[in-house]
Amino acid sequence: MSPSAVTRYEQAFAQWLGAGRAFAFWKGRVAMYAILKALGVGEGDEVILPGYTCVMDVNPIKYLGARPAYVDIEPVTYNMDVGLLPGRITDRTKVIVAQHTYGYPCEMDAILQAAADRGVAVIEDCCLAMGSTYRDKVCGTFGKAAYWSSQWNKPYTTGIGGLATTDEPDLADKLEAMCRADLVNPSAKSALVLAAQRMVYRAVIYPRTTAAVTALFRWMTHKGLVIGSSSTREFVPEMPDDFFMGMSAGQGRAGLKQVRRLEKNLAHRRRMRGIYDGLLRDAGWDVPQIPDYMDPVLVRYPVRVADKARAVAEAASAGVELGTWFECPLHPIETPMHLYDYEEGMCPQAEKASREVVNLPVHPRANERTARRSVEFVKSIGPAQD
Ligand SMILES: Cc1ncc(COP(=O)(O)O)c(C=O)c1O
Repeated sequence: MSPSAVTRYEQAFAQWLGAGRAFAFWKGRVAMYAILKALGVGEGDEVILPGYTCVMDVNPIKYLGARPAYVDIEPVTYNMDVGLLPGRITDRTKVIVAQHTYGYPCEMDAILQAAADRGVAVIEDCCLAMGSTYRDKVCGTFGKAAYWSSQWNKPYTTGIGGLATTDEPDLADKLEAMCRADLVNPSAKSALVLAAQRMVYRAVIYPRTTAAVTALFRWMTHKGLVIGSSSTREFVPEMPDDFFMGMSAGQGRAGLKQVRRLEKNLAHRRRMRGIYDGLLRDAGWDVPQIPDYMDPVLVRYPVRVADKARAVAEAASAGVELGTWFECPLHPIETPMHLYDYEEGMCPQAEKASREVVNLPVHPRANERTARRSVEFVKSIGPAQD
């Protein structure tokens, strides 16, 4: 019997990454949950992550009865401030999540050292960072495991979708056993609705149309008419019954196609980053000074503006595809942050970035014209003032 589309996708992705094994899931957050569970995270443990993330990245920690411990970010790469990390590690810390924000690699040497000093595991959140390298090694190959997302806004899309990867045979065996025992299959209806959404996405989502289509999509998700990235049930830290779900064959086929064209996608993103850097530098804006041992592949191009609310309000009519990540330390703004152990003031740099940063498209449907229009737009808003 020939392997299923999902198996072929897992194998193709593992091969691209150079990792031992890949496991596909309904969403990236499910992959994170599987990894944490396989590492034995449970009641009373702590998991460290940056206080500038998506709440869907915190849910798996809470679902397992563990506690998130947030580290503030440094303002250039928006990644965990590694100077603060050792002070956050306690006897209860079980895992550190190195989230490569927007595609900028974390300072992996410092994270791995701090973790080794205290016998803590490191895993990588690569949901925003496919193809980025740190000291010539690709992100996703530093920690015990990594997880990836192929939701609508991610480096490539399978509608929604996620992967866990690992090079450690023991961990891979645990993940495999867990999937065999507990993973539920998506219903035929969900798989079909998602397939229809992928078709619509391919037909209508372009930089100029994204804002209008997204507004309609959110409304339809709210009404339960389409499969959104997150349901209202996911805004409380209690695991929905059908959370631990596998990937449908349609997602697997879509993923396989995307892996085949991945290098082209990544090259395009690298080129777009250069274009944005150049346009903003020419306009006299500060462009992030990224150390030369990092080669980021961005999922979106982040930029700090003087008035984020005005930028968000005016982007659609200016035909600009403007992203709002992250709207607060635990994106999106609707998150009841107290239920996730975040108190205002915990991560001041993350809170400042949430107020200032918008992000611009670098995906394969964006081009130099898109970048010029986007930069003209952010120029009309002005740079954030310190
Ligand atoms: C940094 C980060 N990690 C993980 C996730 C979860 O990915 P998914 O939506 O595939 O569950 C997200 C969600 O968008 C994210 O922004």
